[in-house]
Amino acid sequence: MSHQLGTLEELPLDYRNTLTDLNLVPLWPALRSFLPYGRPTRACEPMLWRYEDVRPLLMRAGDLTPIEKAERRVLILANPSLDLATARATPTIYLGLQLINPGETAPNHRHSPSAIRFVVEGEGGFTMVEGERLPMEKGDLILTPSGLWHEHGHTGSGPVVWLDALDLPLVYSVEASYCIEGEDQPRNNRADSSQATYRRSGLQPYAALDRPVDTYPLRRYPWREVKAALMDMAGHAGPHDVLHLAYVNPETGRECLPILGFSALALRPGETYAPKRRSASQVLHVIEGEGDAVIDGIEMRWGESSTIAVPTHAEIQVRNNSSTKMAFLFVVDDAPMQRKLGFYEEF
Ligand SMILES: [Fe+2]
Repeated sequence: MSHQLGTLEELPLDYRNTLTDLNLVPLWPALRSFLPYGRPTRACEPMLWRYEDVRPLLMRAGDLTPIEKAERRVLILANPSLDLATARATPTIYLGLQLINPGETAPNHRHSPSAIRFVVEGEGGFTMVEGERLPMEKGDLILTPSGLWHEHGHTGSGPVVWLDALDLPLVYSVEASYCIEGEDQPRNNRADSSQATYRRSGLQPYAALDRPVDTYPLRRYPWREVKAALMDMAGHAGPHDVLHLAYVNPETGRECLPILGFSALALRPGETYAPKRRSASQVLHVIEGEGDAVIDGIEMRWGESSTIAVPTHAEIQVRNNSSTKMAFLFVVDDAPMQRKLGFYEEF
């Protein structure tokens, strides 16, 4: 039963002052804001970043700031509803668009937050993780998990841009975020594990059966494989089946990072994606295609490489406007964290 709770102002001033002197706070005036009925109170609002707006400014950063002065030349996609200075797209997800020009390197380091790179444009970029050289082609997902050494380079021509997504807001909020710099990594000369040891789903090195599960056995998910899988799925799915694939750890079949989760969504020509409300906050990044979205009643129009922040518990409708072409979206969410903590829900 709902009751009107007492306010702070109803309490005598001398009582309030004594509480404050003793570092005490009465719960009841704030109880409803901590535990509102039915739905959480959310500061986060839906937000759209269109790549054609961001790209010129990112290219200009390449002229204005040499890589040595940036280490990571990134424009953060900061959601103004969450305060630009806190560098959050959603309460738990940091996003940035990173530019690396030919011949540049982003030096070796490791840190407590986990990161992923999702390649937006360009050829010849690579990420090195613990000596494994991971080629970066448009649409590839690259993992740089917590604590693993990683550096970036570019041996091609023209700019390379990728979307960074990190669990930084969460790790920072628990005051556990830090970084260590290191010497350049020695490279092993093997092909990356997506081409070698974990070439196809359902297969893994035999020896892996007799050792503890590798926390991060696969650190690159090539887009050409993911797109082919989505197209094969489309060819065999019913007209109302949602074409949605999760990126997982091939040894466990579960999410590939502990806090943030990643998936790829295909929308058929004219299809509207209207999933259940989820307790997870999310980011939708357009790989290919164009269309409209309505997020909590806010309408937006998206195109290739647009990025959309979606609050927790949001009502979502995403429509592929093309009558002939598929659209493909990359999805980041904090569902893995919420599942582990026991409060992930769909409504
Ligand atoms: Fe990093």
